[in-house]
Amino acid sequence: MCGIIGYVGKNNALNVIIDGLERLEYRGYDSAGIAYLNSDGLLDIKKEKGKIKNLKETLDFDIKSSLGIGHTRWATHGEPNFVNSHPHKVGKITIVHNGIIENYMELKQELLKSGYSFKSNTDTEVACALLDKIYNETNSIEHTISIFRKKARGAYALGIIVDDDYNHLYAVKKDSPLIIALGDKENYIASDVPAILKYTNKYITIEDDEFAKISSDKVLVYDNNADLKKFEVKTFAGNSNDVMKNGYDHYMLKEIYEQPEVIKKTTLPIIEKDLDSLVNNMPDFSKYKKIDIVACGSAYHAGLVGKNLIEEYANVPVNVDIASEYRYKKLFIDKDTLVIVVSQSGETADTLAALNIAKTHGCDVMGIINVVESSIARKSDIVMYTKAGAEIAVATTKAYSCQIALLSLIALNIAYKNKEIDKSKALEVLKSIRCLPTNMQSVLNEFDEYKKIANKIYNNDKIFYIGRDIDYALSMEGSLKLKEISYINSQCYAAGELKHGTISLIDEGTPVIALVTNEKMAEKTISNIKEVKARGAYVILVTTDNINTDGDYYDEKIVVPCTNKFVQPILTVIPLQMLSYEIARLRGCDIDKPKNLAKSVTVE
Ligand code: AGP
Ligand code: GLU
Repeated sequence: MCGIIGYVGKNNALNVIIDGLERLEYRGYDSAGIAYLNSDGLLDIKKEKGKIKNLKETLDFDIKSSLGIGHTRWATHGEPNFVNSHPHKVGKITIVHNGIIENYMELKQELLKSGYSFKSNTDTEVACALLDKIYNETNSIEHTISIFRKKARGAYALGIIVDDDYNHLYAVKKDSPLIIALGDKENYIASDVPAILKYTNKYITIEDDEFAKISSDKVLVYDNNADLKKFEVKTFAGNSNDVMKNGYDHYMLKEIYEQPEVIKKTTLPIIEKDLDSLVNNMPDFSKYKKIDIVACGSAYHAGLVGKNLIEEYANVPVNVDIASEYRYKKLFIDKDTLVIVVSQSGETADTLAALNIAKTHGCDVMGIINVVESSIARKSDIVMYTKAGAEIAVATTKAYSCQIALLSLIALNIAYKNKEIDKSKALEVLKSIRCLPTNMQSVLNEFDEYKKIANKIYNNDKIFYIGRDIDYALSMEGSLKLKEISYINSQCYAAGELKHGTISLIDEGTPVIALVTNEKMAEKTISNIKEVKARGAYVILVTTDNINTDGDYYDEKIVVPCTNKFVQPILTVIPLQMLSYEIARLRGCDIDKPKNLAKSVTVE
């Protein structure tokens, strides 16, 4: 689920692989390892629990190594320790693996009977033994991989080295990302583009039913029957600058500040010619009677904002589901339903599975995706890209706000085309989208004020978020942002729901971040705020400049400019992101790589 990089070529594999692993560090991991050819032409394996720097200390970078594979592990089977770390070597086969082999227990039993024994608790070592067994039987790595694919179930990206041939690397994948990158007399495999962007922007994507054989000057791609296939070389549009911190202490902060720019990039092509481009530069949604939005984590929260806007303005029913639930529940969908899958990475396993299920019901699937050419993007019938650029921090910020921007535009497009809103209202929304980058900048400029508030509450061990309507959806994202990076136990409640149980958790001084940006709901939410204030809460009100907030029911107030409901969430989320960031910083947390989390979740 974390990182793979492999290298074969004229330069030192050790340098390239360690550098690549460091560039993948942002994805979160618990141990790291490398297998490489040493100066005697033999394969050495080094691995360490914890950070890549521990691994680096064990390596001699002066040797010249022409081939290797490296790995950062996010443990799924077996605790993070030396033995369970990758690479794993069994017989003649050495592998690194991202993902999960689901039937590994069954395979393990068979392999034990065949005389294999296992040192680790991982599913990966089982996959490695299976490859070795088949290789011994077939003596052909190409056939080994085809047979392996039929026997192993689950999601995997594998980098493979075979003892009989140290001139080649093999790459195979299923429902887990892996690309092959092309250099000059050197080639790479990588689980994510940032790992290789310093060296090349030319790459090949392999599909789930393909695998590749890679030497320093040649790449061969095979189909499932081990027959050769043609492939297309693609060029990645970004550059290595996109994956640098550019002077910021953390990627998260850099990405928060990038939001005005990426919102502009995402929305401009759709709004540049006002209503003409709103109609013509978007897919035709008119044939769908209902919409299902399916996603995980923050992307799910963006979906909730989308539902609110599409239902309210476009008058189309929207169901929003968490992908891991959607994939197993009874679905009431058919060709009249548009299923929108939302994903930054485009690789989230549950979201990908939900997409596949939706297709079996005959639905069109539209992806709102950030990573171009990712698995979900490739499998969607229609794709709208968020143009957030590479997002490195595990906690999403800029991709989330771009997702909301696209969902808002979908709501506006349908509402306008279905004559649910008139031309002047639609033009007013477009105007507010144009003003958004400037308004966002003014909210970002208030960081010092948010810092002062963070300083007052960062030591608490619980923080609540409340809101109603669209503010509730937004509060959920605020609360997730806080808990994922600061490890504070944070809960989010619909403001009216607190008194049905949760209010018992409010003590003297408990911070409650209350969102009141929707004038229609303001009075109701303010009453709920008074209820928590009466029980000792320390209230931080997040509101807009048009709402009358007179009264002594809050301790701190953050005011953001009032704009249209279609774009208000994009402004309001900024103080929530910045508060979380600053609280996590004050608590000394590893902001970009929070513990236990991974940037792209390619396991179920
Ligand atoms: C967001 O901060 C989280 N790290 C996480 O909830 C994320 O949004 C979720 O895993 C979905 O990822 P995706 O957008 O890449 O599909
Ligand atoms: N399932 C494997 C393990 O636990 C791979 C985990 C990963 O993707 O890093 O070792």
